[in-house]
Amino acid sequence: MIPLAIPNLAGNERQYLNECIDTTFVSTVGPFVTRFESQISEASGYAHTVATSAGTTGLHAALVAVGVTPGDLVITPGLSFIATANAVAHAHAQPWLVDINEHSWTLDPEALARALKEKTTPGKDGLPVHRPTGKRVSAIVPVYTLGMPADMDAIAAIAREYRLPIVADAAAGLGARYKDRPLGDMGADLTMFSFNGNKTVTAGGGGAISGNDRKLVNLVRHLTTTARVGADYDHDRVGFNYRMTNLQAAVGCAQMELLDRFVEKKRAISRFYDESFKDLPATRPFPSPEFAHSACWFSGFVLESGDSASLRQALRAQGVAARPFWKPLNHQVPFADAPRDALRVCENIWNRIVTLPCSTGITDDELATVVAAVRREVLGK
Ligand SMILES: Cc1ncc(COP(=O)(O)O)c(C=O)c1O
Repeated sequence: MIPLAIPNLAGNERQYLNECIDTTFVSTVGPFVTRFESQISEASGYAHTVATSAGTTGLHAALVAVGVTPGDLVITPGLSFIATANAVAHAHAQPWLVDINEHSWTLDPEALARALKEKTTPGKDGLPVHRPTGKRVSAIVPVYTLGMPADMDAIAAIAREYRLPIVADAAAGLGARYKDRPLGDMGADLTMFSFNGNKTVTAGGGGAISGNDRKLVNLVRHLTTTARVGADYDHDRVGFNYRMTNLQAAVGCAQMELLDRFVEKKRAISRFYDESFKDLPATRPFPSPEFAHSACWFSGFVLESGDSASLRQALRAQGVAARPFWKPLNHQVPFADAPRDALRVCENIWNRIVTLPCSTGITDDELATVVAAVRREVLGK
């Protein structure tokens, strides 16, 4: 089976892991953690970064840091990996699901503005209150779907109007640009990255939170390190043990050295599939809005008509790991009752997406096999 997206450990991973073992720095303190944080700051254009045990845990800590409190609502797009909503729930808040834009599959600024205008009134502390539930809205979490930034200028303007902080879920976004600006200049107060095994660069597992406000990033660091004060056993609040280990960071450092090359490869895979399928009836490429240069985490196509599930199954039978993409969050048991607006685009798109093998180590022969299988199946139907 040609896999969907597997790690490409082509650099100094083994050497750096050996250094961890030789020096006994295998746990949460060690030089690779600090180096990894600097690499992420540099690659994202943010001033400060804290590495975390996972993207989900980083997002949880970031939400708490920007002021999300129990009982609040946090606006998220209706289409995301469940971890976005889980992090909100870990903060004892609830996601408020808003539709995505069909040209980017990211949070739609118009739907966001409409939802806030029609459904909220200003609360005592200046933050909006969601009239149907009486809950305070305390943050917006745009998701950079497939490594595609959301339309952040428009979203940031709305966030400013309602005094809402933005925590971006850029789990697969490293390498992306928006209006030719880097991730650190897109208007999010904090941005989360994931280094899970299926991401363009991996640390085996792990995450990071980046920001430009030193105090805010330090607060995230404090929360992720048991809210410890000083060198003894003093803690000033209920914190979390969300630190990244030096072992994870060692792999992460080696991978970050390859980031530019890997993102280029991801974009080349995506261009290759788009080009190879452009004459295929009933298919269209993944979105590519003017405002963003996606990091192209996943590649594939949209099946305009026909049964995408049986197409994916037929491709898998031919040794091509074709997969579906995320389900809208309201389709997930824990979030079935989350407040939501009309999710027309989410509902219309999710079940027509076919993701295709796009590991950075994929060979030309494998790419040709994938294309031939897709063409055979789509044309044969
Ligand atoms: C959009 C999105 N959010 C959050 C996560 C969670 O990150 P992690 O697996 O590092 O916790 C992922 C991927 O895993 C993701 O794709």
